[in-house]
Amino acid sequence: MIVKSATFVTSAVKPGQCPETDLPEVAFAGRSNVGKSSLINTLVNRKNLVKTSQTPGKTRLINFFAINDRFFFVDLPGYGYAKVSKKERSQWGPMVESYLTERENLKGVVILQDIRREPETEERDLVGFLNQVGLPFIYVLTKADKLSKNKQFARKKQLRERFSLQDDDFIVFSAKTAQGKDRTWDNIMRLLEIPRSQPNHQPDSQPDNPPPETP
Ligand code: GTP
Ligand code: MG
Repeated sequence: MIVKSATFVTSAVKPGQCPETDLPEVAFAGRSNVGKSSLINTLVNRKNLVKTSQTPGKTRLINFFAINDRFFFVDLPGYGYAKVSKKERSQWGPMVESYLTERENLKGVVILQDIRREPETEERDLVGFLNQVGLPFIYVLTKADKLSKNKQFARKKQLRERFSLQDDDFIVFSAKTAQGKDRTWDNIMRLLEIPRSQPNHQPDSQPDNPPPETP
């Protein structure tokens, strides 16, 4: 992907403040400090388009970035960080949930998880929620430079089984080495073209209902 332009457009706390445009967008969601802002910077080849921080919970608004004037990247505030005040935590859910359910431009979500962590309630809830509303997603395992290849593989396998997903749904990524950058781009472009109507990840254990019998 050749990025010719990447510019910050606006911040929003509710759907009415999102940019009015027909351009499609993908959103980046994950725990605070997981590397959302770093992933976006790596993808667009910029050190500081999005501010990164040692202090988790830095990104507290929904931030919109226009890429090549063709689509948007949307940096969501991180969830699950205890030091953010209770009030702010209780605002995250409704703010992000209404964005995810109401925003028509949204074509898919990039879920991020630190490859060193076990998937926790937040990840399970998010995957369940996206399946429920029928939003396609990909799952990026961040900070891969911190783990050996064997351990990277083991985590991918664990998550694939846990969420009944395909191997292709996971991308092992590092902002430090740019491992997984091209695959992430390929999958984001795929998300931007997928229509939103059908859930894309149904658990294998739930076969389609048979058609009703006609008399
Ligand atoms: P919030 O905005 O607070 O929710 O955080 P975020 O998810 O945007 O994380 P951010 O990109 O700010 O990164 C958090 C910290 O992790 C920073 O110190 C980054 O330098 C570091 N980091 C991010 N990605 C990587 C990576 O791939 N490898 C390593 N080693 N460190 C990373
Ligand atoms: Mg951030």
